[in-house]
Amino acid sequence: MDTKQTVAQSIHQAVPDLTLEQITQLLETPKNAEMGDLAFPTFSLTKVLRKAPQMIASEIVEKLDTTGFEKIEAVGPYINFFLDKASISSRVLGDVITAGNHYAEQDLGHGRNVAIDMSSPNIAKPFSIGHLRSTVIGDSLALIFEKLGYKAVKINHLGDWGKQFGMLIVAYQKWGSEEAVKAHPIDELLKLYVRINAEAENDPSIDEEARTWFRKLEDGDEEATRLWQWFRDESLVEFSRLYDELEVSFDSYNGEAFYNDKMDEVVDILTQKGLLEESQGAQVVNLEKYGIEHPALIKKSDGATLYITRDLAAALYRKRTYDFAKAIYVVGNEQSAHFKQLKALLKEMDYEWSDDVTHVAFGLVTKDGKKLSTRKGNVILLEPTIAEAVSRAKAQIEAKNPDLPHKDEVAHAVGVGAIKFYDLKTDRLNGYDFNLEAMVSFEGETGPYVQYAHARIQSILKKANFTPDPEAHYSLNDSESWEIIKLLQDFPRIIVRSADNFEPSIIAKFAISLAQSFNKYYAHTRILDDSPERDSRLALSYATAVVLKEALRLLGVQAPDEM
Ligand code: ARG
Repeated sequence: MDTKQTVAQSIHQAVPDLTLEQITQLLETPKNAEMGDLAFPTFSLTKVLRKAPQMIASEIVEKLDTTGFEKIEAVGPYINFFLDKASISSRVLGDVITAGNHYAEQDLGHGRNVAIDMSSPNIAKPFSIGHLRSTVIGDSLALIFEKLGYKAVKINHLGDWGKQFGMLIVAYQKWGSEEAVKAHPIDELLKLYVRINAEAENDPSIDEEARTWFRKLEDGDEEATRLWQWFRDESLVEFSRLYDELEVSFDSYNGEAFYNDKMDEVVDILTQKGLLEESQGAQVVNLEKYGIEHPALIKKSDGATLYITRDLAAALYRKRTYDFAKAIYVVGNEQSAHFKQLKALLKEMDYEWSDDVTHVAFGLVTKDGKKLSTRKGNVILLEPTIAEAVSRAKAQIEAKNPDLPHKDEVAHAVGVGAIKFYDLKTDRLNGYDFNLEAMVSFEGETGPYVQYAHARIQSILKKANFTPDPEAHYSLNDSESWEIIKLLQDFPRIIVRSADNFEPSIIAKFAISLAQSFNKYYAHTRILDDSPERDSRLALSYATAVVLKEALRLLGVQAPDEM
């Protein structure tokens, strides 16, 4: 039972008029530790009890059982609760030490699947910073849900179909070279794509030719299919390099093309349910009753199906294949209208599981305060950027710890971790400015700062040659360690909250607070000095390291033992 529940229980016994829930709602966490760990304002009881709040507070205090508390005081209209630090710290430290990295695991999912649509870049187009956000947030959510007993299914819904492949094939046949594409697939394909589009502006026959090739592709023409497959494979080789750098893997690469033979079924179901309407030769579904102004365009007048139709087919396929408890789509905010339509369509089709479908949106990344734009040259090229982060990390390690073994590995963990952490600590709906210097800094609310706190603890433990004894009763009752104990105790709830909100930032912020509290403790307390509390202080340090490392792991960030 956590602190709040303990306190709520004991108030409830004294004041049965209020339900446990009401009490929990009313409990406040005082800003100032002198006012206790929790405070209960009595104002809301004045009506029922017809007494002054001061009086109510002191009367309730008389009735409260103080076991588990250092003291309970009435101060004016408030009741302040001071928890028994010694017994709580002993319990929390024992829990963390016994469970190790399994601490805070909870089986809420019972092994059910969470389908996570994440990353999903477009073939033959650059991997954007938005795709990076989707990759990093999606991966963290997968780790968080697995911690809670779900099985994550990470799906890379590649943008590997569409008219642009007709354009690409035409361009490749005009100017392409196999070696060039092999050497730098995405660069080269993008160049071809840009060039053919420019050419098409003055030469309408190109459009016609592209349409013909795309039709061939749809009809399974051998040459068209061979080229398409090859562009896809080469692009994937390049994307995979990035995924390796980021240490992210996928359970499925079924992208848009995978649903080619699954579109008729969707159209059939929509027809059977009488949802399709004709509008200017196209087939649409009206979604006005969901407050959605634009009808969903399912099939164009030329018979071509659309992005939303593919997403419908994908949703049906995923429900059948994974029988998911939740299906989430980690995709930028700019696609909100699309996912509103998707959810409304599924609802309109009477799938009760449409309630389990969530668009996990996120905000835009800027650079130097400006929107990114390939056209205006304000771009972030991911591979060189990651390399730069790693080399900045390495420079700082060289300065701090020149004799560190495995420097390159550590620098990689710090550089990549820095980029991920910075992204994840931001409330996902907010954007942020991409600033490598701030990201890789060892100071401030950064990944390296948290990693460094963890490594510092490892070095303290090593110096003391300390391994905790799971049978021992470690306990502390000073106020600096108390801050840490409360955070450690909170970790299980933090994880649930971040899962409920699809918000890894809750865990990132928690990790920052824990690292800060530990650094404060470290500055005030001579952990290694001889004292009757030495072992308990070391146990506290040990438990902090366990939880820091686990919090970082849930963000997809490593915690090296030395740095
Ligand atoms: N390929 C799309 C893009 O880059 C993202 C796909 C997101 N996933 C989905 N199921 N629609 O914009």
